[in-house]
Amino acid sequence: MRETWVIGAASNRFGKMKESGREAATEVGLAAIESAGIEPRQIGHTFVANAFGVAEHQAHVGPLINTGLGIPEVPSVTIESACSSSSAALHEAYVHVAGGFCDFALVVGAEKLSHLDTLAATSYFAIGADYPFEAKNGATFPGLYATLANVYQHTYRTTPEMFGSIAVKNHANAALNPHAHFQKAITMETYLGSPMIASPLRLYDCCPFSDGAAAVVVAAKEAVPHPVREPLVVRASARAGSIADMHDRPDLLGLPAARAAGAAAFRQAKMGPEDIDFAEVHDCFTIAEALALEDLGIFPKGAAARASLDGATARDGKFPVNPSGGLKAKGHPVSATGASQVVEIFEQFNGLAGGRSVPHAEVALAHNVGATGGSCSVHIFSRR
Ligand SMILES: CC(C)(COP(=O)(O)OP(=O)(O)OC[C@H]1O[C@@H](n2cnc3c(N)ncnc32)[C@H](O)[C@@H]1OP(=O)(O)O)[C@@H](O)C(=O)NCCC(=O)NCCS
Repeated sequence: MRETWVIGAASNRFGKMKESGREAATEVGLAAIESAGIEPRQIGHTFVANAFGVAEHQAHVGPLINTGLGIPEVPSVTIESACSSSSAALHEAYVHVAGGFCDFALVVGAEKLSHLDTLAATSYFAIGADYPFEAKNGATFPGLYATLANVYQHTYRTTPEMFGSIAVKNHANAALNPHAHFQKAITMETYLGSPMIASPLRLYDCCPFSDGAAAVVVAAKEAVPHPVREPLVVRASARAGSIADMHDRPDLLGLPAARAAGAAAFRQAKMGPEDIDFAEVHDCFTIAEALALEDLGIFPKGAAARASLDGATARDGKFPVNPSGGLKAKGHPVSATGASQVVEIFEQFNGLAGGRSVPHAEVALAHNVGATGGSCSVHIFSRR
């Protein structure tokens, strides 16, 4: 396996896009290639994440994006792994580049759903769950994650303020992120006063429906003698799966795929949680951030929501989490999310994160979940 780097990254502002998913993917793909200091013709393979292109009446977007980039002859593949689509695409790009199949690969994820209302978007998203058993019987993602939150709350006797502190922290971080959907801090009072969506999840426990696109360029170290930016060295690229249906899982106090992907990533990197300086984790709902931190072994079971209330996960805390604002406040354009976590780490390591910078960070982790955890990717990056 060759040493593999992320040498360029770009994102648009999440929220509502005027352009189509495919147009946005082409724009950020080009911006990522420019940020890497290479030419589009150097890309050997494009890995595209676009789970809900069908909502735009468009499939097979890879060749369209490559045509827009001026490289129609370059192979592409579209990868669907629900909310972890672009981290799955990154894993495939890593395998190609580290395995010597190409020197440069483009990973791009894009999603556009803002032309749909909440009911239609919720219905599309629900096909990422087990449709006959879950979605068809009325289970939505807020409902499924509310089930996880209820089990957690009942087991660990948590308070609403503990989950609220995750939302308040992530909104504060997103207020400093020009890519974020919501660039507005909220107070605990705003959180507590917000409407109930699926008990115990309130409005501010939920990620929004966002449009967005994010891209990264993956390269073999040996093909980049003079990187124009500080590259992210890929120390680990791990994926795992688990039983997709929540009703068949023996335990709802975590996501088995996240535990397995986290453990595999730490093994690959020859590191432990104590070596990580900050993490971008999949907080589609506030409960998901708490579970992620426990699944990764960063906090003991039942301790993450409390630690958040104590400030441990703030930018200046013991273990900064989601300096970007996370899915909760930066937004969650499904297939762009995993790549955008890497964009955040790239900006952090390149001094481009402005007021949300995590000082002295050398090693960072990205954790990206598909649906309620049928799949999960964990990547670990370091400076050279
Ligand atoms: C929480 C949710 C139901 C709210 O939808 P809604 O009630 O139809 O809200 P609307 O789109 O009508 O927006 C109403 C207001 O709330 C804001 N808003 C919507 N969702 C929000 C969220 N998650 N957090 C904060 N504010 C939100 C909107 O910006 C809007 O503000 P404005 O009035 O100032 O313009 C919806 O965002 C949702 O389902 N989120 C989860 C998405 C999901 O499941 N993703 C997959 C995860 S695995």
